[in-house]
Amino acid sequence: MTLATEAFIRTLPKAELHLHLEGSLEPELMFELAKRNGIELPYQSADEVRAAYEFTDLQSFLDIYYRCADVLRTEQDFYDMTWAYLKHCQQDGVVHTEPFFDPQTHTDRGIAFETVINGIDRALKDGEAKLGITSGLILCFLRHLTEEAAFATLEEAKPYLGKIIGVGLDSSEVGHPPEKFARVFEAAGELGLHRVAHAGEEGPAEYIDTALALLQVERIDHGVRCTDDPELVDALAKTRIPLTVCPLSNTRLKVYDDMAEHPILTLLDKGLCVTVNADDPAFFGGYLVENYLALVTALGMTEAQATALAKNSIEASFLTDQEKAKWLSEFV
Ligand code: ADE
Ligand code: ZN
Repeated sequence: MTLATEAFIRTLPKAELHLHLEGSLEPELMFELAKRNGIELPYQSADEVRAAYEFTDLQSFLDIYYRCADVLRTEQDFYDMTWAYLKHCQQDGVVHTEPFFDPQTHTDRGIAFETVINGIDRALKDGEAKLGITSGLILCFLRHLTEEAAFATLEEAKPYLGKIIGVGLDSSEVGHPPEKFARVFEAAGELGLHRVAHAGEEGPAEYIDTALALLQVERIDHGVRCTDDPELVDALAKTRIPLTVCPLSNTRLKVYDDMAEHPILTLLDKGLCVTVNADDPAFFGGYLVENYLALVTALGMTEAQATALAKNSIEASFLTDQEKAKWLSEFV
């Protein structure tokens, strides 16, 4: 791979649509926040933290990810984490981002909802004002918790609807099917919120069908297990329901043993609206451009394919048609 390829990918206008803000917390910032908040970490250095990031599956990652989030205590902490992510967006040519946050990870340990959302929102507003990066925040319900807890979170979000554009569904997938959250997604839809959900990451292709049918989602997060169901692949190609795919995440969490097995380019060539995203970059070893570059290295992705993926990210975003047309006109 050449430097020219990297520069080409970096300059493509891209939207990032699958990024957990808590997953962008780098070990260095984690230490800084721990110090600021008087928290003792079970690690001596950032390198030691990184060495602990050896995952065998989704749950082995989530166990560490939720523990790391404990250093986030004040509004400024949430601001600093979000701002650090936006600086990466600037370097990577991300012109628009629709990041996720997991309020229950914080409210369940006594941090006020308003502390979390006000810190994140202030950074996103600065991102637009100072870096020219637009954004729309998505609140994710934790699917390993109850429907009742998700409803309570939606209730807490009601005074802040101006600060979020949608709801999502994340955390441990297998055993927590989409239908568990059908009613809370319906209630979110009635509030005018967009709906997305993780489905078909570790869970079966059937979860993609049920997320579409019962949660009425507009995008599927991950969705790579659709390859187990050829009829579903055909339907996704026809409807162009977007999949927010995360290549480095999928290999680090052993959805695929090797990037060479990743189906994203096959799905692209079949006409699906697949997009590239970083998921939890601080844990999986790379931000958006690194995810594109991994596809160049392992799958020989061409500049034309990279361009198609970047265009898909604009198409799949919740920007207005006018805003999408503006970005799409910048592709040569
Ligand atoms: N939370 C953060 N990253 C996640 C992922 N890849 N799948 C499910 N939940 C998550
Ligand atoms: Zn995710």
